[in-house]
Amino acid sequence: MSVRKTILVLAMSLIGSSVILAADDKQKAAAVSEQDGKYVDAEGNPTFKIQDDGTVDWYTFSGYRRYHSDCHVCHGPDGVGSSYAPALANSMKNMDYATFLSIVAEGRKNVGGGKENVMPAFGENKNVYCYLDDIYVYLRARAVGDAPRGRPPKKADKPQAAKDHEKSCMGS
Ligand code: HEC
Repeated sequence: MSVRKTILVLAMSLIGSSVILAADDKQKAAAVSEQDGKYVDAEGNPTFKIQDDGTVDWYTFSGYRRYHSDCHVCHGPDGVGSSYAPALANSMKNMDYATFLSIVAEGRKNVGGGKENVMPAFGENKNVYCYLDDIYVYLRARAVGDAPRGRPPKKADKPQAAKDHEKSCMGS
C-alpha cells in the first residue's frame, strides 16, 4: 500500500471512530502521556508540550521548521495566513487530526468567485509526510496552545525515536 493510501485509510478510520468533530481547545490538547519525547492527548492524538520556561518538545520544534519550509509560502509565517491561503493558526481550532491528515495528503481545490486557490496534495512528498505529526502538533500549539510567533527559543533534544523514524521514512 502506498504511504498516501495508508494515511487515507488511517484518516478514514479515525473519522469513523469519532461521532462528532468537536472544536479543539487547550484542554483537549493537554498532553496526558509521553513516549520517547512524543506527547499524546487523552484521545491518543499527537500533541505539543511547552514547558513553563518556553522549551518546546522536539516534534513541535521540528514542525515549526517543516512548516516554514513547505507550507508558509502560502499559509504565511507562523500560520497567520495570506491573501492566498487560510490562517492555519485559526483553522486548526476547528479541525481534528484525521481531517488534517486527509487534507494534507489529498490536497483541496476551492474554485469560486473567479479565483482558483489550490492546496497541493502532499501524500507523495517525503519532506512533508515523514513529518506530518510534527507539523500537526506545531500548528496545534499555534492554534490552541498559546505558542508565540517565531522560532521556539528552546527545544528538547531530538529523541532516538525521531531519528529512527526519519531514517526509515526518508530512506524508503
Ligand atoms: C501552493 C500553496 C499552498 C501550500 C504550499 C500549502 N497550502 Fe494548504 N492550502 C492552500 C489553499 C489555497 C487552501 C484553501 C483550499 C480550499 O479552501 O479549498 C489550503 C488549505 C489547507 C488546509 C485546510 C484549511 C481550512 O481552513 O480548511 C490545511 C489543513 C492546509 N492547507 C495545510 C497545509 C500544510 C500542512 C501545508 C504544508 C505541508 C500546506 N497546507 C501547504 C494552499 C497551500
